[in-house]
Amino acid sequence: MSQRRRTGTLALAALVLLVGGCTEAAGGVRGTPGAAGLRDPLFPKLGNGGYDVAHYDLTLAYDPATGRLDGTAEITARATQDLSAFNLDLAGLTVRGATVDGAPAAYNRAANELTLRPRDELAKGKEFTATVTYTGVPEPLTDADGSKEGWLRTADGAIAVGEPAGSMTWFPGNNHPSDKATYTLTLTLPAGLDGFSNGVRTERRTEKDGRVTTVWHTAEPMASYLATVAIGRYETGTATALGTVPVLTAAEALVAPGSAALRAEIPELLARQVKRFGPYPFSAAGAVVTRDGTLGYALETQSRPVFPAASFDRATLLHEQAHQWFGNSVTPESWQDIWLNEGFATYGEWLYAEEYEHVPASTHFARAFAQDANWAFPPAAPPAAENLFDPPVYQRGAMVLHKLRETVGDDVFDEILRGWAEKYRHANATTDDFTAYAESVAGRDLDALWDVWLYGDEKPEKP
Ligand code: ARG
Ligand code: ZN
Repeated sequence: MSQRRRTGTLALAALVLLVGGCTEAAGGVRGTPGAAGLRDPLFPKLGNGGYDVAHYDLTLAYDPATGRLDGTAEITARATQDLSAFNLDLAGLTVRGATVDGAPAAYNRAANELTLRPRDELAKGKEFTATVTYTGVPEPLTDADGSKEGWLRTADGAIAVGEPAGSMTWFPGNNHPSDKATYTLTLTLPAGLDGFSNGVRTERRTEKDGRVTTVWHTAEPMASYLATVAIGRYETGTATALGTVPVLTAAEALVAPGSAALRAEIPELLARQVKRFGPYPFSAAGAVVTRDGTLGYALETQSRPVFPAASFDRATLLHEQAHQWFGNSVTPESWQDIWLNEGFATYGEWLYAEEYEHVPASTHFARAFAQDANWAFPPAAPPAAENLFDPPVYQRGAMVLHKLRETVGDDVFDEILRGWAEKYRHANATTDDFTAYAESVAGRDLDALWDVWLYGDEKPEKP
């Protein structure tokens, strides 16, 4: 390994010395290295340029006793430029080897960047498979707002979450919401432990050594921040939602009885949300409920959101389910657009309370309007990484939608909400895409509304 590592370092040094970073391959391709970051306004180093991932095939073995993770990531991607080298995001862990299209690739690591240099350059448009084998004890990340994410160890297992950046603590990839891909995840655990991930469980087998392997398939595109793994002693529940969607819930044994009734409501709650938001975007549903003390917040991990038991209430469940449409299917192009997730999921809670709990959305609006914390910055412009999940993103984000509804009327608003989920289904979108779409459905300019409620620094005098 040290041999290859040295080769990688030398190759990189040579690259840097070349004017413009260009090299010429035998085939005549003049490739340059892909960018090491996508220049996200809030997280400039996340993601990588020069390729587009189609599929992640992750094979993971975990031993909770030692905390050691052994992984192989097989990444199928397409080059979007002539590439001499490209990066993956990876934090911690030890890389044991890398190949591109089966040939050993030189690799190098610096901070959270893993650079692979394929033997043959990759011409623009070429589909390729990069394989990285790695090992180590994953370390969680501490976010700018002080919360923990990534691979979080529990007493007898782990829970892995990744918003905004933590997925790179357990697998290498293009760790930015703008590059969504499908996933297959194969998880091998010591006998007696259960593992869960996103999507549909397609296989469960016992290995010769007694360990148990499950295979999980996510058929619809998923942003890396929505990938999850939960490992421990869990009790499960199954059901069918919406006629065809398999529902699998898992709750750690200690919190299983207390969460069973709400877990059983999932099909009914999804049916209500479909009426408002349009067709459910995924082929699986469910929830994972963990003991308190490890994960500090609920997260809308694709198809199967995760909740610390203390956060597993109906409003939070509705919020994380609403994200399946708003955030998971319609995914922000950059982290700057986070209000497209949180504002919409919050307004989804307000709409539900209005329809089913006799609390008009205007009551939530008035409450939010009165709170100083919601006026710290405009929802479309969180000033820094530490503000990503601050009150203006959620509450003022929801207030934008409420003002839009007041301005265009209930019927047009319903059409905008559903149409937005439909038009950008399984895609990425920006705040500008939203304002343009809303105006196109409303048939008029709404600048006055956006100026004050979406972009305005000041609290308006009147609600
Ligand atoms: N997206 C989650 C929710 O509102 C919140 C994630 C908070 N994450 C964090 N690193 N602070 O449903
Ligand atoms: Zn949310």
